[in-house]
Amino acid sequence: MATLDLLGDWKRTQYAGDLRAGDADKDVLLMGWVHRRRDLGNIIFIDLRDRAGITQIVFNKELAPAVHARAEELRGEYVMAVRGRVSRRQKPNPELASGEVEVFAAELRILNTAKTPPFVVEDDVSASEETRLHYRYLDLRRSRPQRNIALRHKIFLEIRRTLDGLGFYEIETPMLTRSTPEGARDYLVPSRIHHGHFYALPQSPQMFKQLLMISGLDRYFQIVRCFRDEDLRADRQPEFTQLDLEMSFPTQETIFGVIEQVMVRACAAAGIEVKAPFRHMEYREAIRRYGIDKPDLRFGMELREVTEHFAAAREKLHLEGSVHVVVAPGAASFSRKQLDELGEQAKGLGARGLYTIKVTTESASSPLEKTLGAGAVQNIVAATDAKAGDLIVAVSAAEQIPGTDAAALIAGQLRLALAERLNLVPKNRWEFLWLTGFPLFEWGLSEKRWVAAQHPFTGIREEDVHKLESAPQEVRSKGYDLVLNGSELGSGSIRLHSQELQARVFALLGLNEEQRRQRFGFFLDALTYGTPPHGGIALGLDRVVALLAGEKSIREVIAFPKTTAAQDLMADAPAEVEPEQLEELGVAIRPSGG
Ligand code: AMO
Repeated sequence: MATLDLLGDWKRTQYAGDLRAGDADKDVLLMGWVHRRRDLGNIIFIDLRDRAGITQIVFNKELAPAVHARAEELRGEYVMAVRGRVSRRQKPNPELASGEVEVFAAELRILNTAKTPPFVVEDDVSASEETRLHYRYLDLRRSRPQRNIALRHKIFLEIRRTLDGLGFYEIETPMLTRSTPEGARDYLVPSRIHHGHFYALPQSPQMFKQLLMISGLDRYFQIVRCFRDEDLRADRQPEFTQLDLEMSFPTQETIFGVIEQVMVRACAAAGIEVKAPFRHMEYREAIRRYGIDKPDLRFGMELREVTEHFAAAREKLHLEGSVHVVVAPGAASFSRKQLDELGEQAKGLGARGLYTIKVTTESASSPLEKTLGAGAVQNIVAATDAKAGDLIVAVSAAEQIPGTDAAALIAGQLRLALAERLNLVPKNRWEFLWLTGFPLFEWGLSEKRWVAAQHPFTGIREEDVHKLESAPQEVRSKGYDLVLNGSELGSGSIRLHSQELQARVFALLGLNEEQRRQRFGFFLDALTYGTPPHGGIALGLDRVVALLAGEKSIREVIAFPKTTAAQDLMADAPAEVEPEQLEELGVAIRPSGG
C-alpha cells in the first residue's frame, strides 16, 4: 500500500474535466480520483476524474523519473493531486470533452488509497441496481449521476430565482405534524413526551400553505420533502420533493402563468427550449381522444369510439360497454403471435374482447367479418384514419367503475404500448399540457361511496355546484394537472374558501361533524377568520428533473433513493432500534402475524 502525502498548501487551479484546447501550455494543479491507469513501462497514463469529468495525465519516466516512480503506486480510485503542464494531444480523444489535451505531470501527491470497488466506476456499469444502491457513494462517482445531480441543482436554483422575481416567499412548514389529506398512508413518528400520540410526516404541506394565505403572506413557495407510504414505481418514492406553491386572489390563468415561467426557465437550464403558453385540454376530451388523464401528445394515434358499428353483433360477441379503436400505423404485418400477445395484454388490462382489422391496399381483412359482415368492417375502417399497412385494434370492456369508460381507458393503454413498440414516440419533443375539468369525486370501489378525486379542499366549478348532491359524478372541480410527455408533473387547484361549500363536500365524503373536527379542526377554524380566495399547485420535482435528464426512473436523479421495497440499502433503513428507545416511546412490537 502506498504511503500517503499530505495535501499541504496545494490548491487546485481548476477541475480536470474542464480543461480544453485553449488551456494548452498552462501550468495547472488538479485533484481527483484515478479513473483508469495504463502502464506502458516508460509511460504511465492516468485518467484523472473529478466532478467535471476526466483528463489524461502523462507520467514520463525520461522527463520526470521520480514522479513516474511514484505514479507506479497509483491504483483505481486512489485520490491524487498532480501539478503539471497542459499540452495538446497528438491524437485527440473524441470521447472525452477534454480530449484535445493532456497534462504532463511534474509533481504528484497520493492523498489516499482505495479498496478495489465492487464495480468499475463507469457509465455503462454492469453491476445490478441493488449493488449500485448498496454502494451509492461509488455509484454517484459515475458521470451520469454527477450530471443528473448537477442538473437538479441548476433547475432548483432557476425555480428559486424565477419565483423570487415574481414576489414569492420561500417559507418552511413543519415536518413533524399531523396527518395531511393526500390519500396515501402516513409515515408516523411516535412521541416520547406524549405516549400513544404520533406525529405524521407531511404527505404535502397542503393545509399549511392554505393557512399561510389566511395569514396574508400572499405568495408562498417551498421546495419541500413529502412523505407517502404507498406502492412504489419508477416514478414514485416514499420521500420525494415538491415545488409547492400557493397564491392569494389568483385566477387559474395566474397560476398557469407562474408555472409556465418556472418550467420554461427550468427547461432552459437543461438546454431545452419550450414555448409558453402551454396547451389546455378538458379531462373528458382527454379520455375520449387518448383514453388517459395524462395524454402523451408527442404522437397522434387518437382513439375513436365505434360502438355503433358493433350494434348488430352485441349479443353474439357478449359485448357490454363501449368499443374503442386505436390505429397502429404499419402494424398490419403483425404476426399471429404478436396479435395473440396484444390480445393477452388487453385481457390483462381488463378487456372483454379485442378485435383486429388488417388494412391493405385492396381491402381490409379481419376475423370480424364473420360476425359483423364486411360492410360493418368497412365502416369501422372509414371511421378511423387508417391507411394501407395499418392495424386497427378494437377493444370492448364492461364498465367497472361508475362513470368511467373502461374500453377507452384500455385502448389508451394499448395506444401507449403500441407507440412504444412501433418506435413512434419522438425523443426530444416536449409536449406540455394543462388538464382541467376533472371530476370532483370518483367512486371508491372498496369504500363503495364517493371519494375525493383530489384532496377535499379542491374548488368546484360554479356552473356545477347545483349538482353537488343530485349528480355528484357530474361535478367538475377547479383542479388542474400539468402533464409533460404523458407524465403527471403536478397538480393543484383553486381552493374552496367558502365554509358552506366545504361542509357540503365533507358531507358527501361521508365525514360527520366529529370526524371533520378530529381531522381538520384547526384548519376549519382558520377558514372562518377571513380566508381570501386562493389557489396553488405542487410539481413533483424528481419527475421534472428525471424527464429533463432523459431518465426513466426518478431514482436516477435522487442522490440517495430508496428501492421499490422502500429500503435504503446503503444505510440499511428501516432498521430495528434499541429496546430502550422503544421503552422510552412507550411502543411495543408485536411479533409479525400477531
Ligand atoms: P399531488 O398529490 O398530486 O398534489 O402531488 C403533486 C405532485 O407530486 C408528485 N408526486 C410524487 N413524486 C414522487 N413520488 C411520489 N410518491 C409522489 N407523489 C406525488 C407528482 C404529483 O403530480 N397538495 C397537492 C397539491 C396542491 O393541491 O397544491 C398535492 O400534493 O408529480
